[in-house]
Amino acid sequence: PPCLSPSLSLSLPVSLPPCLSPSLSPPPPPVQPVLQPLRLSLDKLRDVSSRLHKGLVQGLGKHSHHRAAVKMLPTFVRATPDGTEKGDFLALDLGGTNFRVLHVRVLQAEQKVVKMDSQICVVPKDMMTGATQQLFDHIASCLGDFIASQELKGQTLPLGFTFSFPCEQKEIDKSILIRWTKGFNCPGVEGRDVVTLLRDAVRRRGDYDIGSVAMVNDTVGTMMSCGYKDQSCEIGMIIGTGTNACYMEEMKNVKRVEGEDGRMCINTEWGGFGDDGSLRDIQTEFDQMVDKTSINPGVHIFEKMISGMYLGEIVRLLLLRLSEEKLLFKGQKSEVLQTPEIFQTKFISEIEEEDTGLDNARRILTQLDLQWDEADVRVVRLVCDTVSSRSARLCAAALATIANKMRLNRGLDRLQTTVGVDGTVYRKHPNFSEELQLTVRLLAPECSITFLVSEDGSGKGAAMVTAVAQRLALHSASFSCHPEVRH
Ligand code: BGC
Repeated sequence: PPCLSPSLSLSLPVSLPPCLSPSLSPPPPPVQPVLQPLRLSLDKLRDVSSRLHKGLVQGLGKHSHHRAAVKMLPTFVRATPDGTEKGDFLALDLGGTNFRVLHVRVLQAEQKVVKMDSQICVVPKDMMTGATQQLFDHIASCLGDFIASQELKGQTLPLGFTFSFPCEQKEIDKSILIRWTKGFNCPGVEGRDVVTLLRDAVRRRGDYDIGSVAMVNDTVGTMMSCGYKDQSCEIGMIIGTGTNACYMEEMKNVKRVEGEDGRMCINTEWGGFGDDGSLRDIQTEFDQMVDKTSINPGVHIFEKMISGMYLGEIVRLLLLRLSEEKLLFKGQKSEVLQTPEIFQTKFISEIEEEDTGLDNARRILTQLDLQWDEADVRVVRLVCDTVSSRSARLCAAALATIANKMRLNRGLDRLQTTVGVDGTVYRKHPNFSEELQLTVRLLAPECSITFLVSEDGSGKGAAMVTAVAQRLALHSASFSCHPEVRH
């Protein structure tokens, strides 16, 4: 195998292949007890997967949903693209520190989604936790400037709004925020309809208008943007600042929405897995600390163990512990290293880089004002590898749970499906995607899963969701017209 994780290699009686990074050569024994709780065996992952499966079923149930940690939110997306979609759309994308506005064209003849233009507006940190009206006025103002610059004033284009937070959707254009995640915490938005907040802000400006709105989670946008290229794409997954996945579920299992036929895309919000205590046995003291010091303690436990917003902090806490135990930096920890969030998740990727990793580690440790020696550099690389590897394996366990469920739903011996994926951890980390795919194959051997990295799911995907919604609406309108035509 090209690159085994330490967790995997420990359980296999093979000598390590030469390609393995030096960090994976046997570490100094005293470090092992600190890292051991982060190493999850395949059996443990299977166990985690069966707990998640129970969680998915609970989230879908009419009477169990209200106490479910994994929310399993209906998205009112009832179909993936069929290649007949077309037209011009606006797309908004809010989910991280930037807010984006895009003008997107879907070209049916070429089966292509083209981004005509886009603009990025920074969301200042204080706005992420400030007043609701201020945030939505900022969004409306960026959108207004963009519409003016594109000379689109006077046209009322349909708009896809990628809003990457857990929302209870009542319809495609009615979406109530359940809770903020990923560093956002504007008081007063939870429990309110995001489309109304957007429309109100546009109305306050009064200088432009918007057409129909489709609310889209980023996982759904990711699935739909890949779905135009590959119509067997029925899962969307994000592993970036936050983490989540959506998939096409049978309507008969979606007990909270009327109707038995066909499928609907479910936004799992798997980041909330563990919020009911079901991951307590694998949460380490470092995970508990990350949770306790976050702005939303007690919630999104799974996300806090695996996503980009938190991985760097887990590594920092481990480095502090190892230096306290005199296993790193000769027992000296710098003041810089004691600053929360100073160890960025991108450092993990840089340190694990195959050729340049050790040099990167030396540079980063110097930046952090640490007195290191060569043995420290290797231990730090091992710590990064252990944390990122646990993330990849837990993410694999969650994805395998969904794929297995889809296969059983459909009564198939073998499921062939495609996952649209996005997120910085997946894209930028040198071994993450490989380890994720390897582990999914082990945990879901009856599923052949193709991974497709999405190209701008939050922009083009949102336009695609809007386009599919329009196609279905037109279809049902013409369908319901037929009897009258016959009269
Ligand atoms: C949010 C999800 C989102 C994910 C990835 C999570 O924090 O709850 O809605 O899909 O991050 O952006």
